[in-house]
Amino acid sequence: MTTLQELFETHEGRLVHKWNHYFEVYEKLFSRYRGKPINILEIGISHGGSLQIWRKYFGENANIFAVDINPECKKFEDEKTKIFIGSQEDEAFLTQLKSQLPVLDILIDDGGHTMNQQIVSFNHLFSTVKDGGVYLVEDTHTSYWNEYHGGYKKKSSFIEFAKDMVDQMHAWHIDNEKIAPINFITENVMGISFYDSIVVFEKKLRKEPFHSMRGTSSITPYSDPTLKKDSILQQVKKKLSGKKNSYFRQLKK
Ligand SMILES: C[S@@+](CC[C@H](N)C(=O)[O-])C[C@H]1O[C@@H](n2cnc3c(N)ncnc32)[C@H](O)[C@@H]1O
Repeated sequence: MTTLQELFETHEGRLVHKWNHYFEVYEKLFSRYRGKPINILEIGISHGGSLQIWRKYFGENANIFAVDINPECKKFEDEKTKIFIGSQEDEAFLTQLKSQLPVLDILIDDGGHTMNQQIVSFNHLFSTVKDGGVYLVEDTHTSYWNEYHGGYKKKSSFIEFAKDMVDQMHAWHIDNEKIAPINFITENVMGISFYDSIVVFEKKLRKEPFHSMRGTSSITPYSDPTLKKDSILQQVKKKLSGKKNSYFRQLKK
C-alpha cells in the first residue's frame, strides 16, 4: 500500500504544505483507519491539497470535514467532503459547527496556529472526538514564536496548555483535590504524545486506574529508605477524606 509520504511525494493536485517529519507520525497514528468509514475533520484548508491527500490515503469510505476562515475554500466541497467557513477561535461558530458534526475518529488542527486558536479549538472540539479517537495539533513550534503569541515557557502557549493536560491526565495520582481535581481530561485522555511540532491526544474513557499482583512472593522486597510511603492509617484517612487512592485500593484487595 502506498504510504502517506509516497502519496505526498507524487502529488500533482492542489497545493499542500507539510513538514517532512510529520509523515512518520501520521503513518503511525492513522494507518489503522485506511479504507474504513471514518469521520475526519481538518482545521486549515489553504489550497485544498491536504484534503486530496487525505482522500487518497483514507479512501472513498471516509467522510471528510474541514474548516477554514477563508470563504474561497468552500469551493473544495464535494459529496463526501463538507466544508465549513468560520474562525476556529470563534466560540459561536464552534458551537454551531459541533451541532453539525458527527463524532470524529480524527481531528487535525492545521489552522492559523496561534495560541488562542489552538486552545479555543481544543476546548470546544475535543469532546467531538469519539472514544478511541485522536486529536492532533500541528505546527506546535509556534508555541515558541512571539509572532504567534507564543514564547519559551510562556504560560499562555499551547505547549504549556498541553503540559498542563499531562497533569490533569494524572489527577488520580495527585493527592490534592483542590489543585488537581478529577475532570473530563482525567476521565477521557489515555495518552498525550509530544513530537517535534505535533501534540497528540488519544481519547479513551477511563475509570480510576488500579494495579494488582498475581503469583507467589519469592524475595524480601528491597525497601528504599528515601521513599516516605504513607502508612496504612494515613491511607485510610485519605480514603475517608474522599480522595481516590490507587495504593489504598491495592492494599484492600
Ligand atoms: C497551514 S494552512 C493549512 C494547510 C493545509 N492543511 C495543508 O496541509 O496544505 C492554514 C490555513 O488556516 C486558515 N486559518 C487561519 N486562521 C484561521 C482561523 N482563525 N480559523 C480557521 N482557519 C484559519 C488559513 O486560511 C489557511 O488556509
